[in-house]
Amino acid sequence: MSQNLLEVKNLVKVFNIGGRIFGSKLKAVNNISFNIKGDNPEILAFAGETGSGKTTVARMILGLETPTSGEVIYKGNNITHIKKRNELMEYMKEVQPIFQNPFETFNPLKKVDSYLYETARNYNLANTKNEISKIIENSLKSVGLTLAEIEGRYPNELSGGQLQRVSVARALITKPALLIADEPVSMVDASLRMSIVNLFNELKVKYNVNVLYITHDLATAYYISDRIAIMLRGDVVEFGDVDKVMLLPLHPYTQMLIESVPQPDPEGTWKEEIKLSSLEVKEFSRLGCKFCERCPYSMKVCKEVEPPIVFKEGREVKCHLYAKEGVTTKVKI
Ligand SMILES: Nc1ncnc2c1ncn2[C@@H]1O[C@H](COP(=O)(O)OP(=O)(O)OP(=O)(O)O)[C@@H](O)[C@H]1O
Ligand SMILES: [Mg+2]
Repeated sequence: MSQNLLEVKNLVKVFNIGGRIFGSKLKAVNNISFNIKGDNPEILAFAGETGSGKTTVARMILGLETPTSGEVIYKGNNITHIKKRNELMEYMKEVQPIFQNPFETFNPLKKVDSYLYETARNYNLANTKNEISKIIENSLKSVGLTLAEIEGRYPNELSGGQLQRVSVARALITKPALLIADEPVSMVDASLRMSIVNLFNELKVKYNVNVLYITHDLATAYYISDRIAIMLRGDVVEFGDVDKVMLLPLHPYTQMLIESVPQPDPEGTWKEEIKLSSLEVKEFSRLGCKFCERCPYSMKVCKEVEPPIVFKEGREVKCHLYAKEGVTTKVKI
């Protein structure tokens, strides 16, 4: 069996909120496990409403947030507690982030090409200016830009779409095996969104880059990804092949989400930014299933016991409904 590129094992993140004395704990990520094999590049979407824990998962994978428990293993090495700078640099070279808002990623007073030069220099990718320029030209080319188009320009002189392409080009300079793209198109003009989403597919096909595509937009997730994880209040409630999950959802929450996006239309999103009501905030600390108050099939056990993860019809589903059917179940502790 070949080694996985990335293994995420029983990842948990608990935040203390509201101060030390009267504060409480919020389990933003509850026991998440998945692998990216890496031999056959893929786009894996993490989709969920606002506050479901997507960014926290991304930050733990990137080493920006320490997990409360669980592990992130990259090419067989546990990176959860890497302390040495050279080991961290080596990891960051291979796993690169792309953030949501290109206008925040780039300092308005700094020329955008300087980010590309800095990245190439920080990772000691070449010794001469000529070699560095060549690397930069190549990574810009892979996102459909040229150095001439962006050289000497400030962020406000580029469109959101162009700027996000520069972010992707910067991430590609180190020739990463995995991009962690957290809502990479949500701040980009709707008309340019699909071109960026398509770019991820191109990178996968042409350059063997795996992409963890984090989004609250089910439609682009369906359009671009190979597998999808549906998150709800820190849980992955359904995970598997995107066609299986989207066309024949098993979890009642996934079913509800898909009903709210009538067609797999690239422009369709969840209706609006969903603000958590107090009922939903309580869902984080619920003993049983996080969805049971809203689920049409809720049973007594759903209120009391955390659902097992059941393997059914080519995906994992965290739901008591299917545990009853006697299929193989895996309860993670
Ligand atoms: N540093 C922190 N301290 C306390 N709570 C936090 C912190 N970071 C995130 N949270 C909480 O953890 C939960 C998950 O947050 P996270 O940002 O991972 O969600 P998300 O799915 O990325 O949401 P969005 O779609 O809005 O980006 C939220 O309730 C959030 O308020
Ligand atoms: Mg987020």
